[in-house]
Amino acid sequence: MPETEIIVHDILIVGAGLAGSWAAMVAAKQGVQDVAVLSKIHPLRSHSGAAQGGIAGALNNVRPVAGGGPDGPLEQIPAGDAPIDSVDLHVFDTIKGSDWLGDQDAIEIMCREAIDVLYEYEHMGCVFSRTPDGRIAQRRFGGHSTPRANYAADWTGHVLLHTIHEQALRHKVKFYNEWYCMDLIIEDNVCRGVVAMDVLQGKIYTMRAKAVLFGTGGYGRAYKITSNAFANTGDGVAIAYNAGIPLMDMEFVQFHPTGLYKHGILMSEACRGEGGYLLNNKHERFMERYAKGKMELAPRDLVSRSEQQEIDEGRGVEADGQGIWLDLRHLGREKIMERLPQVRELAIDFVGVDPIDGLVPIQPTAHYSMGGIAADADGQVIADLAGTPVVGFYAAGEAACISVHGANRLGTNSLLDASVFGRRAGYAMARFVQNGAALQPVSGDPAQRSRARVQALLDNPGTELVEDVAQDLKTTMTNNCGIFRDEARLQQAMREIKVLQARFKNARTMDKSSRFNTDLLATLEADHMLTFSEVIVAGALARQESRGAHSRTDFPQRDDDRWLVHTMAHKNGADGPQLSFKPVTIDYDKYPPQERKY
Ligand code: FUM
Repeated sequence: MPETEIIVHDILIVGAGLAGSWAAMVAAKQGVQDVAVLSKIHPLRSHSGAAQGGIAGALNNVRPVAGGGPDGPLEQIPAGDAPIDSVDLHVFDTIKGSDWLGDQDAIEIMCREAIDVLYEYEHMGCVFSRTPDGRIAQRRFGGHSTPRANYAADWTGHVLLHTIHEQALRHKVKFYNEWYCMDLIIEDNVCRGVVAMDVLQGKIYTMRAKAVLFGTGGYGRAYKITSNAFANTGDGVAIAYNAGIPLMDMEFVQFHPTGLYKHGILMSEACRGEGGYLLNNKHERFMERYAKGKMELAPRDLVSRSEQQEIDEGRGVEADGQGIWLDLRHLGREKIMERLPQVRELAIDFVGVDPIDGLVPIQPTAHYSMGGIAADADGQVIADLAGTPVVGFYAAGEAACISVHGANRLGTNSLLDASVFGRRAGYAMARFVQNGAALQPVSGDPAQRSRARVQALLDNPGTELVEDVAQDLKTTMTNNCGIFRDEARLQQAMREIKVLQARFKNARTMDKSSRFNTDLLATLEADHMLTFSEVIVAGALARQESRGAHSRTDFPQRDDDRWLVHTMAHKNGADGPQLSFKPVTIDYDKYPPQERKY
């Protein structure tokens, strides 16, 4: 393709994970002829595939056996017996999990549409695990009152992603695999397309579209220990922010309690959902001290903080005392092989422990970005506190903040969020295009600006290594903006980010070639991480309270009088983010704020 050629589609989706692929599949199925997805990696390597334990939905297929206790066995609910779960209970658990920061109207939509989405997956042939009578199998998960994690062993994200990808291909969606989005074209509050690089060829194109969706995933790679794929560098979030779009609630970063020690790789919460224990160096089930009612199945923010407290007080395991034991031995070989085969393989491959007979060392790992591009329940991106739409621009999945997770996400609600809101955005974009949206003109040559950016990076003779800058960022984010935060550490993080941003200007890209230049990609990704990390820290500094995953030791209480609000961050030139605050949508009759106890 010559460099000057401009690529045109009706709908262009960036990111091929569950959110992007659902949106593409639905829009194509609705009759939009020309739908394309671009992805910086092969679509089936998208990070949605790494979610292991389940997708939430109140299907009412199983219940705890009477008298079996909170972690006792489950049985299928016989036909005709009363249901134990409901959409309302799922909504309540999600609101409570969010520490009342989730928007309740959006949460209602997500929990209600879960049922349709799950059956749609089933009808598309998704290979769920099954109950003895053939219904979708369900297990317990943290913070949920009932077993509502619908699962496929510990490969749930993987099987969902394959299902939707197949359907997108079936509906003739075009995929640009290993294309890297570099810029968003927005003029006069109307989105007109993106600029993207064909990584194999090293060529940069303007790609015009009537509607664009970002399903670009999260930003956990800004931390040293993370369960996130190498690709999760928050590119979409940073690109949107640079284009003037507000980011919402960025200070809320989830730490998953069970990342493999030193590696951060996910050991699914399903381990605890199936009955696994967490032990300190005295072999105590320490969760008894922190969440007696829920034990290991308390929500992630609480469990991660409890683990960190055990570690900080000298009760951690391994030589440096930075680990915790995950004990699955009592589950037995058969259950582990059937329900947790991937977890077992990962533990054997990465730490040389077979969970059938050994204790697995784990530690909290940066896992999920509650914040992101501010959008409504149709994925429509908003420009300001008043909710003014950015015409033609949509976001869904982890890159977006539709605010269903608030300050802390419950496990299994992310595959659900990506599916429900990717699907809704697909319908919304189809309506937008079919109601006559026009291809909007583009001023100048946006691709030329990105080519100049790349050339400047390649020509930079600087003395810094990009990798060193990126590693130093991860270190300060981990040490100073991690599970526990305070003013002094956050100020330190902010100072260091400013220094790192300056060092980045003097950073050299070692590989100067044009084809498949992964060093250049790493440079662009580092630039993006430096951009959004500043927003995380600014939000964390401003929010003088503790709520969900944001735990300030200097402000240990939740403060609804001042902080029951979303943080919105707009880029303010070189001055960094400008923060404003948006009310949370709350139904005060149905779900008024309460103290959050487990
Ligand atoms: O632990 C897990 O299997 C992860 C699931 C999730 O983040 O929703």
